[in-house]
Amino acid sequence: MTRTDTEKTPVTLLGLGAMGTALARAWLTAGHPLTVWNRTPSRAHALAAEGARATESVPAAVAANTLVVVCLLDDASVEDTLAGADLTGKDVVNLTTCTPAQARARAAWAAERGARYLDGGIMAVPPMIGVPEAGGYVLYSGARDLFEQHRDTLAVPAGTTYVGENPSHAALHDVALLSAMYGMFAGAAHAFALIRREDVDPTAFAPLLADWLTAMAPAVHGTAEQLRGGDYTKGVTSTLAMQVAGTPTFLDTADEQGVSPELLAPFFALMRRRLAEGGGEEDLTGVIDLLLRRPE
Ligand SMILES: NC(=O)c1ccc[n+]([C@@H]2O[C@H](COP(=O)([O-])OP(=O)(O)OC[C@H]3O[C@@H](n4cnc5c(N)ncnc54)[C@H](OP(=O)(O)O)[C@@H]3O)[C@@H](O)[C@H]2O)c1
Repeated sequence: MTRTDTEKTPVTLLGLGAMGTALARAWLTAGHPLTVWNRTPSRAHALAAEGARATESVPAAVAANTLVVVCLLDDASVEDTLAGADLTGKDVVNLTTCTPAQARARAAWAAERGARYLDGGIMAVPPMIGVPEAGGYVLYSGARDLFEQHRDTLAVPAGTTYVGENPSHAALHDVALLSAMYGMFAGAAHAFALIRREDVDPTAFAPLLADWLTAMAPAVHGTAEQLRGGDYTKGVTSTLAMQVAGTPTFLDTADEQGVSPELLAPFFALMRRRLAEGGGEEDLTGVIDLLLRRPE
């Protein structure tokens, strides 16, 4: 069936920063009636010229539509912004990056005000919004029926990945994935530092690095299976004992190249601790449990 523009769900969007503006353009381009608000009103001018209805008050923007999407700087700005609005009967979709605890509290806060609530974590940068082939997506958590009801509209700016009813889980997945990304960038930073003073072209090294990281990434599936099964020695090809024995090579190479080991050393220390506790026949999965310990 061909849908006409008038059949498309109207959207209210609060927040026209870099991300909010990209979201707005995607919904406008797809023909969704769009009402926008931004603290600094001038940021709405260009979108108004493209067909958005710009409002100068949050209550008016919220009152305009049932579906209210929020994309502001942080959780505090969401509280500030929505404080004076009547959320009764609204479907609030909060795409503002926050912690899992903030998302849980914000869901309860919305429910107290008579709204249904979905939390979202955006796994994309603004140029990827409205460009399906770019691979960006948004993690969603909260009531499944609410997600299903708005799935088509939410899928306009980027792909949708629903991660469960617990409203904190989108933020949890978001931060977990980004944390892994920073670990990857930390490793890449160390690798580039090792070659930095040598006659090695970084642009020739980069494809080797990217391919190696890509080849190693599927190891997380084995880790997940071990965590689920509880046997950390199952399917191990590179034992922790072997890997710890190799760590002096990495530290000595850093020293030879005049590179600080400060990014690698904490992980190696955890590996040695797990080995000392008897985890020599495991791979690296046991390190995860060491991280779960509370500080003394
Ligand atoms: N940009 C990215 O690459 C990216 C990627 C993934 C997720 N995100 C998330 O998307 C959200 C928005 O990011 P962004 O890139 O759009 O940020 P941004 O360009 O810095 O825009 C921030 C937005 O928040 C508004 N704001 C800040 N404090 C406010 C307050 N106290 N009350 C009301 N409005 C306030 C700003 O209004 P003014 O215009 O008045 O300053 C602006 O609309 C963030 O949570 C970010 O983590 C961003």
